[in-house]
Amino acid sequence: MNRRTALQAFGALSATFAAPSFALPADASAFDRAVAANRWLQPFKGISDTTQDLRCESLAITGRWPAGLRGRFYRNGPALFERGGQRYRHWFDGDGMVQQFRFGDGRVSHLGRLVHTPKLLAEQRAGRFLYSAFGTDIPSDAPAQGPDSFNTANTNAIEHAGRVLAMWEGGSAFALDPRDLSTQGPVSWRDDLQQAPFSAHPKVDASGHLWNIGTFRNRVIAWHIDPQGRFVNAQVGESPYPGGMVHDMAVTAQFLVIPLPPVKLHFERLAAGGTPEQAYEFQRDEPLRILVLRKDDITQRRVFELPAQMVFHVGNAYERGDGSIALSFVGASDHRSLVLGAVAVMRGQPAPPRVSSTQLAVLDMASGRASVESLADAVEFPRVDPRRIGLPTRYLLNASTWMPYAAGRGSLFHGIELRDLHSGKVDRYDYGEQMVVEEHLIVPKPGASDELDAWLVGTTFDAQRQVTLVNVLEARRVAAGPVAQAALPYWLPLGFHGNFTPA
Ligand SMILES: [Fe+2]
Repeated sequence: MNRRTALQAFGALSATFAAPSFALPADASAFDRAVAANRWLQPFKGISDTTQDLRCESLAITGRWPAGLRGRFYRNGPALFERGGQRYRHWFDGDGMVQQFRFGDGRVSHLGRLVHTPKLLAEQRAGRFLYSAFGTDIPSDAPAQGPDSFNTANTNAIEHAGRVLAMWEGGSAFALDPRDLSTQGPVSWRDDLQQAPFSAHPKVDASGHLWNIGTFRNRVIAWHIDPQGRFVNAQVGESPYPGGMVHDMAVTAQFLVIPLPPVKLHFERLAAGGTPEQAYEFQRDEPLRILVLRKDDITQRRVFELPAQMVFHVGNAYERGDGSIALSFVGASDHRSLVLGAVAVMRGQPAPPRVSSTQLAVLDMASGRASVESLADAVEFPRVDPRRIGLPTRYLLNASTWMPYAAGRGSLFHGIELRDLHSGKVDRYDYGEQMVVEEHLIVPKPGASDELDAWLVGTTFDAQRQVTLVNVLEARRVAAGPVAQAALPYWLPLGFHGNFTPA
């Protein structure tokens, strides 16, 4: 793809994303009233605009912190939801805050900083929200010079080639300094691709190459960044399902594998005063499409079709000996978590019960046919051994819910489960009724190669103590629970995703 083509592909971004002009202010105090009866939802309050960096030099550790577990554990998520008396009505809307936990010498420290996007800085100066968000229309005539004018950088954080990338779905990644999380600015990989979407779920393969996608209207862009953080190339192609919501992707040795759930985004309905439920449509008569692109030439592609499902996250994909592709992902029968759950929690109310579960698909590249096995679990935030991204993996880690008491807490998780995809055995741990469980990672032990020679690392919110903890479990003994926990003296907004960089 030449530079002119790229310009033509993304040149319309700024015009399309001009700020809408209808009002629907939310009530900030309504959240406070509702959450009094739903204390496990307290982190959805978010931080206030006057909050400075969150710092704790030494978290209180219980148990025995593994000596070999050294490095930087990052998380990102929406954190600032209220400004000038207005409150966002959708969880995805908040300005991003990156959390960094440093592990080393038997100590855990924490630093949390808002990503200093142009949006955050402009709204701080104005003392009010200026730009419409994914699920909240904001009346304003503030100028938008493209998607980075309202990019919240709130979805994922990964350290790659010496800098932290804070990522959103519709615009640039923002680079942060890993030493102090100061914002260096939006990453422009190539001059003619400024502000082109660089999605929040890049995959770093075993050799350190970073692969990512970006989608906009009928376009799909495939990014390739080398292990040194240098731009290799970007290819632009067409989506077989324009205007949909594309969140995550997988890589294999030769392919990019991209689920395209049948969800249409009608931003104009939101701008006209509609709710997220009215604006984002689940098209039950459409299939779940899986777009498979050759990494070296995305014009060579296949589109597989499966029964309609909502998909946010993939676990992994790899090429099998028979030429087919195995793909694990989490699917749901509809998009209620997007349009109802993520709205309810912002009101301090429980979300509808979780319906998403593990899906194991096989994509036959020879015949073009696909099949899927749906497992009977209730999970999200799937992760695998990071050294095996794009390669055969045996174990899949998820946040999970199974206890009866969880019904009253809507979609929030109380446990984790590590699934053996060979035997079907599940090893799980219930953190208990007072805990809200976030994404956990598989962190390989230094020098080890077996998938189970690993720690599981993740955060929980303790609703009783109103604090956030970092938990460490042994992958071989999940049911035994944490071998160590590090407690902050404060709670953090619930986040989406993160990654670990060994020291
Ligand atoms: Fe995600």
